[in-house]
Order: sequence, then C-alpha cells, then structure tokens
Amino acid sequence: MRIPMIAGNWKMNTTVAEAVALVKEMRPELDRIDNVDKVICPPFVSLAAVKELIKGSSIKLGAQNLYFEEKGAYTGEISPLMLAELCQLVIIGHSERRQYFNETVELVDKKVQAALQVGLKPILCIGETLKENESGKTEAVLTNQLSSTSSQAYSTGLTLAYEPIWAIGTGRAATGEQANQTIGFIRHHISKQHGQEIAQAVRILYGGSVTAENIAEFIKQPEVDGALVGGASLKASQFLSIVKQTSSIKRGK
Ligand code: 13P
Repeated sequence: MRIPMIAGNWKMNTTVAEAVALVKEMRPELDRIDNVDKVICPPFVSLAAVKELIKGSSIKLGAQNLYFEEKGAYTGEISPLMLAELCQLVIIGHSERRQYFNETVELVDKKVQAALQVGLKPILCIGETLKENESGKTEAVLTNQLSSTSSQAYSTGLTLAYEPIWAIGTGRAATGEQANQTIGFIRHHISKQHGQEIAQAVRILYGGSVTAENIAEFIKQPEVDGALVGGASLKASQFLSIVKQTSSIKRGK
C-alpha cells in the first residue's frame, strides 16, 4: 500500500512573513489528516521559521533544490547537510530548474545521490515539453530522465513526480486518464529496470495545474499516488481542500 502524498511547491513565492501567515492558517486542519503525507516546500529563506511553526505536527517540510557538494566555495548554493537540519524532503530536477538553470540528467542525479547521503528524501521531477509530447517522444524523454536513477535511490524513499511541462502553470492540466497512463508507463519502465517490488513501492505523483476542482480526477486513478501542487498550494483553502479530497478518496478505495 502506497501512502498518498500531497506536496506544495511554493516556488519563488512568499516572503518569510507571508510564509508564516500561510502555515499558521493551514496547520490545524492539515495536522488532523492522517492518511496522507502532507509536505510543504517554501523558499529556502523561510524553512527555519516554518520548521518551528510545524514542530510537533504531522506536516513535513521540503526544500525546492540543493547543491550536491557538502560545503565549500560555491557562493550562493545550499548544501544537503544544511537542509538536513531543517527539512525531510527536497524537490530535485524540477522542469523550471532544467529549463532556466540548465540542469542536466547527470547533475540532477548527483543531487539525488547527495540528498540520499544525508537522509533527505528526494521528490524527483520528470516530464516532457509540449513539442516532445506532440511528436510522440514522451516515453523516450521520461526513460532518459530516469536513466541514472538507481535501485538504491528508489528503495531509500525517493518519490517521483510526473510533471508534463505543458501542464505547469498553464491551467491546462492533463486528464486523469493521461496522467494514469503515463504514470503506468513510468512504473512499468521501473519494473523492467529494477524489478516489480521496487516499481510497486515507489510513489509517483502527478503535477501540473492541479487544483481543488480537478484533484479528485487524478487521485481516483490507480497509478496516481498524489500530487505536486504549484499555484494552488499558495492558497490555504485550495491546498486544504486538495489534501482533504485525497484523504477521503484514498480511504474509500
Ligand atoms: P502548477 O500547479 O502551478 O501548475 O505548478 C506545478 C508544478 O510545477 C509543481 O511543482
């Protein structure tokens, strides 16, 4: 049984004061939901404040990126060790990082390894562009993005997020069937590479224009283990509704 996960990726939004206000608004209700892993990923500068606010609750904290070196002369970067003191998870390889900061499959894999070494659980993002999708390259792109991910990474608690780039921030979400089909392909591919046991255990989330209005369509799908939510995770009522619907649909399954 895979426990569903709903993770909020706040991206480059919220000042520390705004982050604190948002967490205070959500904490009591989020904390009460017990059959879903609830993760919030605020910007680096808010992690310490949010960590204090969620202390003693069931809410988990994630960062949005890291650098793979342990420490040293890497001005402006954040190391795995620094994050391990603050949070439990870290988003790695988000398409915005691949696209705007030239992160390659090799770099992303180094980051995954570095996170695992300090006990941080990666949420590894993969997904194709619209052009790749329309030219029938989705499976090849996803296979390539997963080519370096090791069995050990899967069995140490890595979560995958399938985020088609054409669905991110566009309001044009995939359909539930599309998400289920592609995530099913990903699981099948992992099964061929690493065996059935690992493939059945790994959680695979859908991400891309998920809202309180469409979350049910995704969560109902057998292959979809939750969602990585961008814009809608910045509104307490939306995020709470997404988590609550996930909880009741999974309870009913
Ligand atoms: P949106 O939910 O804003 O489309 O963003 C999705 C995303 O990129 C989450 O990581």
